[in-house]
Amino acid sequence: MYKLLRSILFTQDAEKSHELSIHALKAMGGTAFDLLYQQNVAHKPVECFGLQFKNPVGLAAGLDKNGECIDAFAAMGFGFIEVGTVTPRPQVGNDKPRIFRLPEAHGIINRMGFNNQGVDQLVKNVKAAKYNGILGINIGKNKDTPEENAKDDYLHCLDKVYEHADYVTVNISSPNTPGLRNLQYGDALDSLLGAIKERQYALGQEVGKHVPILVKIAPDMSDEETQQVAETLLKNEIEGVIATNTTLARDRVSHLKFGNEMGGLSGVPVRQQSTHIVSVLKASLKGQIPIVGVGGINSAESAQEKIEAGAELVQVYTGFIYRGPKLVKEIVAAL
Ligand SMILES: Cc1cc2nc3c(=O)[nH]c(=O)nc-3n(C[C@H](O)[C@H](O)[C@H](O)COP(=O)(O)O)c2cc1C
Repeated sequence: MYKLLRSILFTQDAEKSHELSIHALKAMGGTAFDLLYQQNVAHKPVECFGLQFKNPVGLAAGLDKNGECIDAFAAMGFGFIEVGTVTPRPQVGNDKPRIFRLPEAHGIINRMGFNNQGVDQLVKNVKAAKYNGILGINIGKNKDTPEENAKDDYLHCLDKVYEHADYVTVNISSPNTPGLRNLQYGDALDSLLGAIKERQYALGQEVGKHVPILVKIAPDMSDEETQQVAETLLKNEIEGVIATNTTLARDRVSHLKFGNEMGGLSGVPVRQQSTHIVSVLKASLKGQIPIVGVGGINSAESAQEKIEAGAELVQVYTGFIYRGPKLVKEIVAAL
């Protein structure tokens, strides 16, 4: 059925069909309409960051930026759902068009720029959801917040989402917010993570629960840079790392229509690069920090590749757009 739906959706502009789908899933989620996409997914429990996941396949950040469709995605059988990226204040994001499908490569290029309704609205939506599985909330900074004040935005979001999340992801790897990726390096990373861990401890005391912090990184790093990130994660006792976000590389798609659009490239063209980062992290972290593998997973085999490289959990975005809910079922069954 998804094939038919996709053939209709793919006749529309990419962002239009995204909006249509979110609109529909928001209206149907948590109602009897859930039966349209509900599926029985095998029970494959995994323990990670001290949390119990019913299966290791999650929805990656960016699809449900405002947490509007949590119940619908839950019905599809995801083992965990990550909403966001959310910023302190609502923002419109970059000019349209800003999402491009590259069907020949099973890829997408996007330069959305953290369009979202702001953290207060996200918290309202999360509170309204019936879902009681693992929920991650992915946080970022507003575009107009100067780079030197980025920390304040992350702390603001952390304060607001802490008690509503099972884990919080610090997104420092979107290529579409100017300067954001600079936070991945050296003292900037150390100082940001130090402040976040301090606030995590304070919030933990206040709220009475420990919420793990994960950091999401880019695939466009050398091995040496990745090893340095790993050292900083270990030093700051970060609980998890998500590898990876979208890539700036274009070598695999530059010959295709839209292949040279600005933004982050996802899907099959980023698969190898993401898997490589997972392996470098695995070697550097020596099993002390669990890795969530994401990038180009569109089959059980590509999910298995991430696990073999060192991931404990996986997430999907672009593969899900191309293949629909059955991708989740297929991967979980095979793992
Ligand atoms: C249209 C689009 C929007 C995205 N938005 C976000 C986002 O807001 N925050 C984030 O951390 N990652 C975002 N991502 C990145 C995905 O979560 C994922 O890390 C990346 O696309 C690689 O996985 P994939 O190949 O399965 O898509 C976005 C990806 C796409 C395609």
